[in-house]
Amino acid sequence: MEFAIRPYHPTDLYSLYTICLHTADGGRDARAIYHDPELVGHLFAAPYAVAEPDLCFILTADGTPSGYILGTRDTLAFTRWCATEWFPALRARYPLPAADDDSPDAHAVRSIHRGQMGHPEIAATYPAHLHIDILPVGQRQGMGRRMMATFLDRLRALGVPGVHLGVGKRNAGAIQFYERMGFQRVIDADTWLGFGLRL
Ligand SMILES: CC(C)(COP(=O)(O)OP(=O)(O)OC[C@H]1O[C@@H](n2cnc3c(N)ncnc32)[C@H](O)[C@@H]1OP(=O)(O)O)[C@@H](O)C(=O)NCCC(=O)NCCS
Repeated sequence: MEFAIRPYHPTDLYSLYTICLHTADGGRDARAIYHDPELVGHLFAAPYAVAEPDLCFILTADGTPSGYILGTRDTLAFTRWCATEWFPALRARYPLPAADDDSPDAHAVRSIHRGQMGHPEIAATYPAHLHIDILPVGQRQGMGRRMMATFLDRLRALGVPGVHLGVGKRNAGAIQFYERMGFQRVIDADTWLGFGLRL
């Protein structure tokens, strides 16, 4: 199998949604968890590629999109962009669920209505944030490390001083990956950890 990392092209948007869903259960396939297959992509993948396509890179396996790394250079500016350009249309499409609806879809829809992206409490030190997801076909072969290097080089070229991310505590593999990439734990919440890296 031949792997390559290349810049995002608008024709990759559907693949971003697919890869996001296929890795959204603590790094594993979440197709059986979400009734609406687009919800996680609306939150964790697509808006980044639409707002900042120059910060999105695609991993291909024999030419087929099989992973991505994407994010924003400025979490606060990105949150403002989402508030005006991204979330209003989604809020109209997905009304707030009933208060007693505890389904994963309902949680995702409430996130759309909350509208917070990244972790503003650490954005002063780590203004950028990122998401990386690779399908099983491309995992554990050094591609994540190469994708991270590509993304961090781009942030450095833009003069960004730091980057953060969030990861579920269940996702032990990703936590090890971020620690191997040099990220430090900066938030320890109930179910997730926040990591930061100074550039
Ligand atoms: C987490 C992920 C991005 C890592 O990318 P990858 O290509 O599999 O990782 P690499 O092969 O580049 O590994 C880089 C380093 O991280 C370590 N690592 C990666 N995955 C690991 C795992 N599951 N368990 C332990 N260590 C791991 C490797 O040992 C390697 O260390 P070394 O180079 O010092 O030997 C990828 O596996 C993935 O997308 N998983 C599913 C989705 C996901 O969990 N995304 C993160 C959501 S927060």
